[in-house]
Amino acid sequence: MSDLDRARIEAAIVSKELSLGLPLSIVSETESTNDDAKVAARNGIETGAAFIADSQTKGRGRRGQPWHSPKGASLYVSFVLRPPLLARDTPPLALAAGLAVVDAVMPSIQGDRLRVKWPNDVLLDGKKLAGILIETSIAGERASSVIVGIGLNVHTREFPSEISKVATSLVMGGAASPRRDELFIALCQALERRVREQLEGGVKATVEALAKIDYLAGKALTIEGKSALALGIAEDGRLRIRDADGEERAVSAGEVTIGTGGAA
Ligand code: BTN
Repeated sequence: MSDLDRARIEAAIVSKELSLGLPLSIVSETESTNDDAKVAARNGIETGAAFIADSQTKGRGRRGQPWHSPKGASLYVSFVLRPPLLARDTPPLALAAGLAVVDAVMPSIQGDRLRVKWPNDVLLDGKKLAGILIETSIAGERASSVIVGIGLNVHTREFPSEISKVATSLVMGGAASPRRDELFIALCQALERRVREQLEGGVKATVEALAKIDYLAGKALTIEGKSALALGIAEDGRLRIRDADGEERAVSAGEVTIGTGGAA
């Protein structure tokens, strides 16, 4: 874990007075950092705690998809958040996390090549650079904890054939010698800012910040097998679409499966 230096991370989090990133767990291997974070949250760990693994044996994405998690290749991290939100209002935190990933990697990438693809992907040159998995635990109607899991492809030079056409990494995108500890520190800083922006300004604030890097806006899609046009992200974080009959409506991530002709 040569580029995951715990002392370097802890010193930066303290000196920058960040509220995310501590307590910090870094392990060589785990099944899924989201599961580690979930167990710790259930046992009462405080907001801001972070769980990093050098590799995952059961890394997962949305809809139960596996997340390719080889040793040392990527940043696999899950944060425990305890925002004062109703459980049903937590999905747009994925958009704040997407923005935070863009903020964190922007200095490593030249040119205007980063996009957020609703609801949970970060793309570089149209290929998937990072994925976000939000999992909310519920107490009544409230969220008792929200796990924000982020998989950011950093050093990977070759992906398995089934994802090689749609996935990319920072080094494949031309980043010079990225370090996962530095990326994690930048991510803590950016996620803190983007979550606060959403909690204080509402989802609208996140959506406004996303407008210039919204990958889907203006793109033709298939939603549940039917063609539609993506119009942008609504103020509540849902995707605005115009369907083949010309009807405009907003869809939530749980409602739809989206195809874009294989971009990510
Ligand atoms: C997706 O694109 O569907 C989301 C992928 C999320 C992957 C990350 S890696 C760290 C954390 N642990 C997991 O098991 N999943 C998330």
